[in-house]
Amino acid sequence: MGRADVVVGAQWGDEGKGKWVHRMARDYKLVVRFQGGNNAGHTVYHHGQKFVLHHLPSAVLYPQVACALTAGMVINPVVLKQECHALEKQVQLSAVRLWISAAAHVITPWHIRLDRGREQEQAKPIGTTRRGIGPAYSTRALRCGLRMADYIDAKRCAGWITQMQGEPHFAVSQREDRQLWEDFARAADFLRPYVCAAETRVRQKIRAGDAVLCEGAQGTLLDINCGTYPYVTSSSTLAAAALCGVGFAPRACGKVYGIAKAYLTRVGNGPFPSELHGDTAAQLRQRGAEFGATTQRARRIGWLDCVALRYAQELNGFDGLVLNKLDILAGLPAVKLCVAYQHPEQGRLLEFPCDYRILEECQPVWEEYEGWTAAIPTQGRIAALPPAALAFVHRIENLAECTVIGVGTGIAAEDFLVR
Ligand code: IMP
Repeated sequence: MGRADVVVGAQWGDEGKGKWVHRMARDYKLVVRFQGGNNAGHTVYHHGQKFVLHHLPSAVLYPQVACALTAGMVINPVVLKQECHALEKQVQLSAVRLWISAAAHVITPWHIRLDRGREQEQAKPIGTTRRGIGPAYSTRALRCGLRMADYIDAKRCAGWITQMQGEPHFAVSQREDRQLWEDFARAADFLRPYVCAAETRVRQKIRAGDAVLCEGAQGTLLDINCGTYPYVTSSSTLAAAALCGVGFAPRACGKVYGIAKAYLTRVGNGPFPSELHGDTAAQLRQRGAEFGATTQRARRIGWLDCVALRYAQELNGFDGLVLNKLDILAGLPAVKLCVAYQHPEQGRLLEFPCDYRILEECQPVWEEYEGWTAAIPTQGRIAALPPAALAFVHRIENLAECTVIGVGTGIAAEDFLVR
């Protein structure tokens, strides 16, 4: 019996999961997405060329690795088709190596309209990616969603559309989003050959002892159950979600890797105790190119929050943590870590509060360290870091109670220091 390893984000997404998965994927036979949809934007540099992937795992760039999009996902067929087309020159896709779950739920133009409408109407919007993710998971939960198997069957898809006519805004969407519905219908022919019982195949691979890697999207603090609800995404983003999103037993779970950045970002609304404003935030945003890969929104910036990171460690049990973008901090006179929260009534908190209102009222408790001006080596060993940078990494390990196995040092695929 083999095991599937899992990679998840340890923060609010955008930690650089795609880059680490791209590095690891060479050693795997199969890479699997198990939740989320095209709210994700995984940026990878492959042979010097930039790719932004939304549904497909970054492993798709390796012709020898198979890729599966499984039942826990929601899929926008038009975007997935475009994504496949954009890769045509780089890689050959075939049904042998791209498996799209028949059970995954489909994002329709109506779901996108609903997402946009809700965001516009709310006094305190979530700040979603407006890709229809929440509404697609909602119809899944209501048991009236459209699954991939039904979508690629023209008769069943037409039946579903008829059945949904009475739903709020559905008829309006059909009328006003006509072009989108036409594109939607057309994409089915392209995707049909790839749709299969992807989960069964994944389990067969695990059983056969093949190396399987599950690639998470978004991040731990956006988890629907354990994140800063309601300012979260609509799926579970934890390592445990791989088990449910694919369907395999807990004992078949192998190593779990967490990906974080050496500072913190968040897109969308919601509490962010270690958030920075002013010059340092602007400088880090610019240097770190902190603009959304999916929506181009400027990301909110803060110092690394070690209370939140230890929470992520507790929820996922990382065997190793990758700390990306340490190079972005180089040259700052001082760097900070949030090591606790101060709450006006509850005093000093060392545990991440699950109630977002409490988190909103928290002030960060800082530790400040001297910065480092020496250039960080881009490749080699973590031990080769300048002493101040190494001390910073050690302090993070200590506070978050996990082992840093990799440090991201630049945008090139090889730019990592390892333990
Ligand atoms: P949704 O997933 O589009 O419903 O958005 C819900 C929340 O999750 C918003 O705050 C989004 O900005 C955030 N979010 C969703 N996907 C990502 C991602 O891939 N990276 C970072 N934030 C994300």
